[in-house]
Amino acid sequence: MRTIDDLGDLRGRKVLLRSDLNVPLDGDRITDDLRVQASAPTITRLTEAGAAVIVVAHLGRPKGAPEARYSLRPVASRLAEVLGAPVAFAEDTVGESARAAVAALQPGEVLLLENLRFHPGETSKDEAERRAFAEQLAAFADVYVSDGFGVVHRKQASVYDIAQLLPQAAGGLVEAEVQVMTRLRDTPERPYAVVLGGAKVSDKLGVIDSLITTADRLLVGGGMAFTFLKAQGHEVGSSLLEEDQVDTVRGYLRSAEERGVEIVLPVDVVAATAFSADAEHDVVSADAIPADRMGLDIGPESVRLFSDKLADTRTVFWNGPMGAFEMEPYAAGTKAVAETLVRITGQGALTVVGGGDSAAAVRQLGYTEDDLGHISTGGGASLEFLEGKDLPGLSVLEER
Ligand code: 3PG
Repeated sequence: MRTIDDLGDLRGRKVLLRSDLNVPLDGDRITDDLRVQASAPTITRLTEAGAAVIVVAHLGRPKGAPEARYSLRPVASRLAEVLGAPVAFAEDTVGESARAAVAALQPGEVLLLENLRFHPGETSKDEAERRAFAEQLAAFADVYVSDGFGVVHRKQASVYDIAQLLPQAAGGLVEAEVQVMTRLRDTPERPYAVVLGGAKVSDKLGVIDSLITTADRLLVGGGMAFTFLKAQGHEVGSSLLEEDQVDTVRGYLRSAEERGVEIVLPVDVVAATAFSADAEHDVVSADAIPADRMGLDIGPESVRLFSDKLADTRTVFWNGPMGAFEMEPYAAGTKAVAETLVRITGQGALTVVGGGDSAAAVRQLGYTEDDLGHISTGGGASLEFLEGKDLPGLSVLEER
């Protein structure tokens, strides 16, 4: 993979930079700016090298047409604050506003184009349509830099096609993420534990499949734990359950046992009468969840168990919260996992947090990269990387 250093002298050149600025928003307010922060160093590096930087990114999943709630404008303001420099903003991607803004852009300046997914070409399954959009973007610049690690699993115009049209290189963030994730995938120091949470097992089938062959321990919390508990024969009340995945999970439990991989499930849960912070809730044993209750966090015994199972590990990957942590009564499990990870990082373990929600939780608790080995900006991309899948946005960088 070529890096920015391989691009030669960038003075006076226009660089089209793909970043991942897909941040959670509450109205106009960015609730977690990890991706903005993580994207800034490459931008600064390029402007300091004398390039004019055209940043392209997406936000949410609009369907190929503008939608006000997915505008990148608030992100442009935050990016300017983080960079400590002005960021011009174009109201479209390849239209009049973008063309004028690109023409006016001077060396050392930064421009952010509007959400790429407002244009149907970005995510089109039709190669020609995607290619045509990529050509329009490519016409703005002399060089392409791929730095949106969170989107490298997408075969999209600004991630994949454009890399075939311009001299290209990976940015510093993609380089750093690939380096850490490669260590996890190929040479994890053992014991290696993976903590998985979040709502759905079905989102993580591929990665579970491959982790059963690479990890020593798999700790499962969050909504997905209930499908595992059910597969073990327990009733889970009104907890989140993917009935159609129970057999698949049973298969995982079997194959983990055959391979000597330990699957660790919650032994108690915080069970509530409704999905609400005000709902009545108690700690109950994981094998005795009342029919009218839903598990919304792992319980204190599980916290102790998970923390014991992580205590001697040398490598940990964590994806997905342990419960509905955005509501105070159900935040303890997620908090405890974060604290355990910080502790073992201090003892020399490599800890990697990936996925929007777990990364946000860790940051909400006030922890940073300095407290953990690495906070990945990739959600799906990190999982697919660990799974060993071919990621179009990375393989295209190897091509030329
Ligand atoms: C993410 O949030 O994981 C990335 O920005 C990719 O977004 P997508 O899943 O909508 O392609």
